[in-house]
Amino acid sequence: MSDYDPLSPVMVENPYPSYAQLRATEPVFWSDRLDSWVLTRYRDCRAVLSDAHTFASDRRRAGFERPTASSMQNLDPPEHTPLRRLFTTTFREQDLDGIGDAAVADTRDLVAKYADAPEFDFTAEVARPVALFAVCRLLGVDPPPVAQFAALSDALVRGMDAGLRPEVRQPALAAREKVSDLISGWYHATRRPGLLSQVLAGAERAGVREPEIWNSARVLFLAGYSTTVGAAANAVHTLLTHPGTLARMRDPQLLASGVDELLRFDGPVQGTTRTCVERTGLGGVTVERGQLVLMLFGAANRDPEQFTAPDDLVLDRSPNRHLSFGWGPHACTGATLARIVVRALVTGLLAAPRPPRLAGPPWRERRATLRYPDRLPLSFRPERP
Ligand code: HEM
Repeated sequence: MSDYDPLSPVMVENPYPSYAQLRATEPVFWSDRLDSWVLTRYRDCRAVLSDAHTFASDRRRAGFERPTASSMQNLDPPEHTPLRRLFTTTFREQDLDGIGDAAVADTRDLVAKYADAPEFDFTAEVARPVALFAVCRLLGVDPPPVAQFAALSDALVRGMDAGLRPEVRQPALAAREKVSDLISGWYHATRRPGLLSQVLAGAERAGVREPEIWNSARVLFLAGYSTTVGAAANAVHTLLTHPGTLARMRDPQLLASGVDELLRFDGPVQGTTRTCVERTGLGGVTVERGQLVLMLFGAANRDPEQFTAPDDLVLDRSPNRHLSFGWGPHACTGATLARIVVRALVTGLLAAPRPPRLAGPPWRERRATLRYPDRLPLSFRPERP
């Protein structure tokens, strides 16, 4: 299906039937539109993600210029290794339980404001502030005003689709400048305890240059915020469209496995790309040096070769080795926090005096890379008969 269009209304609304068809008929195909090989099978996606030697995040290794400064996201081992290790070890030393408790309290407070409202937008009014405050607490920086930051983040998220929608490139570049200003503010501010001050303090000993830390902090801040908002909005949408499942999440054991299953069932990140460094065979095709490979996580996460009853929501699914946080050397460094914050949002919602319900259809912006309801109208008022 070389006319595969991730921005078509049907894909934005519900990509899973198309993913299933692609996986069954053309699991690896070339897309002229995306100028890329597209992978939909779990085993092919995982093989590429695990093989950073052949499939690069650092495009310079395939002879290209790289437009953005060096960060954890666009370096490969061995350069990537000390930088990533510094972030992951420092991450583990943060008070993640404390950040989780604060996120539950934030959710409860926000939700309480809407206890009697005819409707409110869960994504904008709850998920966005809770995710932003959590990532800022992690870093040890003051949160910027939520709506202002959300607009910048949204422009950058749209910018991920610039290959398909050139008109989003310029606003994304402008937003990038503004985020740089925000991050320069952190540079000059008095440092508070937190991930940022600790990685900066550990840089020299780890043999990591300071600019790479600042660039990685920017990636972490932006990626951590937008994906967590998306994951939470998808999770709540799924729970409210599968009767009885939200109430079952009161069980602490199910809460943990349930959040992972929600991430598998409908994760926010639809895919990621790598650049092939040397000609290789992959799933029956030959990939040439310099060609892009796109792994569709949404498709891989519903692959029946890997998951039994892949289209069912199984809250206690085990094992559940989904790809929603990626895999291999570039797998998400923030996965622990992401899980904690999504669980906190679900727990906070469950603490409301009445259960929430969908108060209208969700609305999704036309996006390919991050998929979630940008507006998710909820209400705690019982439905009128
Ligand atoms: C549910 C929410 C999240 C999802 C679904 C998610 C998903 C992902 C995925 C799929 C990747 C791999 C991309 C690739 O291989 O090209 C990734 C990488 C990354 N994520 Fe997350 N993420 C989430 C939350 C977070 C949070 C909360 C943080 C930090 C506070 C974070 C920080 C990062 C960083 C720094 C990387 C780059 C790692 C590297 O390249 O070595 N993410 N994330």
